[in-house]
Amino acid sequence: MTIDRDTLIAAARAAATSAYAPYSNFHVGAALSFADGSVVTGANVENASYGLTLCAETVAVGKALSEDWRGALEAVAVIGGKAGGVGAGAPVTPCGRCRQMLNEVAALGASDPTVWCVGQDEVLELRLSELLPHAFGPDSLA
Ligand code: THU
Repeated sequence: MTIDRDTLIAAARAAATSAYAPYSNFHVGAALSFADGSVVTGANVENASYGLTLCAETVAVGKALSEDWRGALEAVAVIGGKAGGVGAGAPVTPCGRCRQMLNEVAALGASDPTVWCVGQDEVLELRLSELLPHAFGPDSLA
């Protein structure tokens, strides 16, 4: 692992401070770490048309894929909570759409990243393949 757990969680926590979440007031930060040592972060971006909201993980994936290809996705950290209480509640696990978005990046680099879902009393450590078994990905279109 190029980046250690606490460093990646700190990056996700810092990203959450940039959340645009005036409707839910729930601020989320995500950090992706790649085999080349780079870290790409994202925060949730809400919209007055609520259903158009972009989750933090999806923003991070969009940044990573639109800026460069960074090789194997090694790990992901996700943290969230009400403004002023980020990381203070139960572990935040990626929503279904975000699992699928993360799977695309993982598939490009042929990795099965560790996903750290941060909460107050515990950090859930899961593989993406546990969060999204039998995933549909680029190979499914072959
Ligand atoms: N949210 C994320 O950013 N990531 C997730 O995986 C779950 C939910 C955001 C979307 C919305 O802005 C807020 O959290 C409340 O659902």
